[in-house]
Amino acid sequence: MEVLERVDVALGKNSYQVLIADGLLSCLGAELQSLVKIGRIAVVTNPKIDRLYGARVRKSLEEVGYEPLMVPLPSGERYKTLRSISRIYDALIQNRFERSDSLIALGGGVIGDMGGFAAATFLRGISYIQCPTTVVAQVDASIGGKTGVDHPRGKNLVGAFHQPRLVCTDPSSLKTLSKREYRAGLAEVVKYGVISDADFFAYLEENSAAILSLDSEKIGYCISRSARLKAEVVQSDEHESGRRKILNYGHTFGHAIETLTGYSQYRHGEAVAVGMVAAGELSVELGFLGEQVVQRQITLLKALGLPTEMPNLDPEEILNVMASDKKVSGGEIYFVLPEKIGAVRLMPVEGKQLRLFLKSLAIYN
Ligand SMILES: NC(=O)c1ccc[n+]([C@@H]2O[C@H](COP(=O)([O-])OP(=O)(O)OC[C@H]3O[C@@H](n4cnc5c(N)ncnc54)[C@H](O)[C@@H]3O)[C@@H](O)[C@H]2O)c1
Ligand SMILES: [Zn+2]
Repeated sequence: MEVLERVDVALGKNSYQVLIADGLLSCLGAELQSLVKIGRIAVVTNPKIDRLYGARVRKSLEEVGYEPLMVPLPSGERYKTLRSISRIYDALIQNRFERSDSLIALGGGVIGDMGGFAAATFLRGISYIQCPTTVVAQVDASIGGKTGVDHPRGKNLVGAFHQPRLVCTDPSSLKTLSKREYRAGLAEVVKYGVISDADFFAYLEENSAAILSLDSEKIGYCISRSARLKAEVVQSDEHESGRRKILNYGHTFGHAIETLTGYSQYRHGEAVAVGMVAAGELSVELGFLGEQVVQRQITLLKALGLPTEMPNLDPEEILNVMASDKKVSGGEIYFVLPEKIGAVRLMPVEGKQLRLFLKSLAIYN
């Protein structure tokens, strides 16, 4: 196994590495043994991921002497609840897990957020290792220590910051994702280019066809570079009091789209793709960005098979959803607005101006 990249996430005593390598899930045991001292290990996953990757993970842990406890949870965002967390606690308590024991979250962002939250809270905090298996989880959710669950009134309303001890990313696991799931995740990859890395954006433009056809080398590069960019942002602002907010680029519009279409029509990444174009247009409207930059974004997103056009939604409803979003502070809605490819600013936009903009998009007729 050739390690493609070791990304340092430097957070003082909470520091850790992101290891990226094709085939890593089959060598997990050895990596854990050499990097973190751990007692017993519980593997939190879901039945589908267990079927695909459970056996190789179990085997690699057993090879170095662990007896992993598998904890499968039901699949899907609608099970990202306190009830599922309780099931993890039940398994850990039944098996007499202690403070010195650890947990592995093997799966997408849903499993990662829940495994992390259970680890943050069980016995006031045990160590955990992220093994992300979706694009979203590999480039975003597994790095940075945000953990949590949804509440019937909204997503991610209950949670904690708890950094993992290690992130083990195996890009080859992305090959079993559905095409749609894979493409949706690429929206977050494009996001990194726009917010902080013009060269990477150009790389994505040049290699979009190979990336779409799952070329191993190109995927590996996209995952590594994105993980590095995420790590840099997290390092500069661990608890999201400032700079880390730039990761929300495209997400204010994106969340409104997801909410108003009932979370069924768009995958999260698809809504973010549309949201990034809308945020770009808003930036043009406010005079911070040239229209040709928005066109570049549209061309790249389309080349990656992502949607770019706002659906037909009522501007007032969009405003209402945005106003109840977590990104509101003191009554003003904050937006991450690009100034060029590779640089963004965070700023409040008045309701009046926003209303005019939404109407000018001619999205409601
Ligand atoms: N903590 C953070 O910083 C952060 C950041 C971004 C997103 N998130 C959270 O992540 C969640 C979304 O994560 P996601 O997009 O990974 O969705 P997900 O975890 O629901 O996974 C998507 C689907 O893919 C399946 N799957 C996972 N890996 C697979 C593989 N290798 N092959 C085949 N199928 C596979 C899953 O079973 C699931 O059905 C949301 O709950 C979101 O709030 C958290
Ligand atoms: Zn996102």
